[in-house]
Amino acid sequence: MIFYFSGTGNSAWAARQIAGPTGEELCDIGALLREGSVWEGEEEKAVFVTPTYAWCIPRIVEDWIRRSSFGKPAAWFVMTCGDSVGSAGRFNRALCGEKDMTYMGTGKLVMPENYTAMFTTPDPETAKEIIRKAEPSVKAYADLIRRGQSFPEDKAGLIGTLQTKWGNPAFYRLFVKDKAFKATDACIACGKCVLGCPAKNIRLEDERPVWGGRCTHCMACINYCPMNAVEYGAASRKRHHYTCPF
Ligand SMILES: Cc1cc2nc3c(=O)[nH]c(=O)nc-3n(C[C@H](O)[C@H](O)[C@H](O)COP(=O)(O)O)c2cc1C
Ligand code: SF4
Ligand code: SF4
Repeated sequence: MIFYFSGTGNSAWAARQIAGPTGEELCDIGALLREGSVWEGEEEKAVFVTPTYAWCIPRIVEDWIRRSSFGKPAAWFVMTCGDSVGSAGRFNRALCGEKDMTYMGTGKLVMPENYTAMFTTPDPETAKEIIRKAEPSVKAYADLIRRGQSFPEDKAGLIGTLQTKWGNPAFYRLFVKDKAFKATDACIACGKCVLGCPAKNIRLEDERPVWGGRCTHCMACINYCPMNAVEYGAASRKRHHYTCPF
C-alpha cells in the first residue's frame, strides 16, 4: 500500500508514479485525516510518500502513522522536497522501530518548491522541467520497492543532522502559525479551502474563511483557491500560487 500526503500535488504525483510499476494501491492520508480515520491493516509493504517539512516528514503524518496500525510491513519513505531532507532518514528509521516496521530507506525526490508563505515558487514551465528531472529517480525508487530491496543509504552529514534535530522543532515553534492567512475580496465563499484542509482548520463565517489555529502549513488553501483569494501576509501576493502541473 502506498500512503501519501500532499498539500499541493507533488507527493500525490510521486505516489502515482510508484503505484504503476509496483502494482501497490494508493491511500490518501489527507482524505483519512479529513474524515478523522486512521489505518488499521496488515501490510506486506508500506510506502510513505510525503512532502518534507523542515527536514522531516510532516508532523501531521508522523502523528497519523503513530495512531495507525500497519502490521509488520517493510517500509519505504519517499520524501519530495525543494532541495534537502536533512537527516529525515534517521528519524524515519526510529519511527519504524517504534511501529515494528522494517525500515527500507528514505528516498529524496527534488520537486518544485511549494512554500508560498515563505519562498518564491516556480512558474509552471520551470515546475514542469523540475518534475521531468525527478522522473528517473522516482522510477528507480519504484523499481527497488517492486523488488523488495532497500533504498541506498542516505548520508545526512552534520548540517543535515542539525537541521532535522534542532531546526525542525524550532521551525514548528516559530513559523507554523495561521494568523497571516487572509481571504481577499475575490473570495466567492465556494468552500473549497474548507473541504481541502487536512487539519480541518478552516470554517466559513459570514461567507469568508476563518483559520482556526491548527494549521500544519501544507499550503493547500492558498494554492488551490480557484479565485487566488488566499494570501499569507503581504509577501505571498508577489508569488506564483503553485500546484503540481501534472
Ligand atoms: C511547511 C513547509 C516546509 C518545507 N520544508 C522543506 C524542507 O525542509 N526542505 C525542502 O527541501 N523543502 C521543503 N519544503 C518544500 C516541499 O517539501 C516541497 O515543495 C514538496 O514537494 C511539496 O509537496 P506537496 O506538493 O506534495 O505538498 C517545505 C514546504 C512547506 C510547505
Ligand atoms: S477556496 Fe477561495 S474562493 Fe473558495 S471559500 Fe476558500 S478563499 Fe473563498
Ligand atoms: S489551513 Fe491551509 S495551510 Fe493550514 S493545514 Fe489547512 S489547508 Fe494547509
